[in-house]
Amino acid sequence: MNTTDYRSHIGRIIITQEEINARISEVGKQLSAEYSGKPLLLISVLNGAFVFMADLCRSLTIPCEIGFMCAKSYCGTESTGSVEITMDVSQDISKFHVIIVEDIIDTGRTLSVLSRMLRDRQPLSFKIITLLDKPSRRVVDLKPDIALFTIPDLFIIGYGLDFNGCYRNLPYISEYIQ
Ligand code: IMP
Ligand code: MG
Repeated sequence: MNTTDYRSHIGRIIITQEEINARISEVGKQLSAEYSGKPLLLISVLNGAFVFMADLCRSLTIPCEIGFMCAKSYCGTESTGSVEITMDVSQDISKFHVIIVEDIIDTGRTLSVLSRMLRDRQPLSFKIITLLDKPSRRVVDLKPDIALFTIPDLFIIGYGLDFNGCYRNLPYISEYIQ
C-alpha cells in the first residue's frame, strides 16, 4: 500500500493517545492495589492486544508474569464466527490470579471460547480486562470485568487494532474508512 492510500483510510480520531494513557494509569493503580502480594499472570490475546498489554503491564507497580495466546476469528471487517486457538500460554495458570488482557470485545465469540478454556484450568481467580467494548455487537453473553472505553458499532484501527494486518502502529484509535 502506498502512503496516500494508507492515509486515505484513517478516519476521525475516536480516542486520543492522552485519553488512553490516562485510563491505563487509573486502571494500573486499581490493579496494583487489588493484586498486591498475589501471584499475578497477565494473558494477552495476540495480535491486537500487544500494544495495550505493553502499556498496561508498565502501569503496574507490583510483580507480574506475562503470557500470550493467539486466537483467530476475523477476516477483513467481518467476524467469521469461528475461533481457532493457534498459540497457548506456557505457564501453569492454576498457580496464578489471571487477568485476560484483550484489545476489543465485539461479538464476544473469541473471548467466550478462551475464557471457558482458561477457567477449566482453575486459576486462583479470573478477570477480563478489555481496552474497548462494543456491547451493541454482542452475540454471546459475555461481560468484561473492566472495559476502559465503551464504543459504538464502528470499525476502528490503531493502538494494536488492524484492518487486514495494517494500522496497528497508529498511536491513537481511529475510525476505518472503507
Ligand atoms: P469478537 O467478535 O469479540 O470475537 O472479536 C474478535 C476480534 O476481532 C477482536 O479481538 C479484534 O482483534 C477483532 N475486532 C473486532 N472489532 C474490531 C474493530 O473494530 N477493529 C479491528 N479489529 C476488531
Ligand atoms: Mg483481539
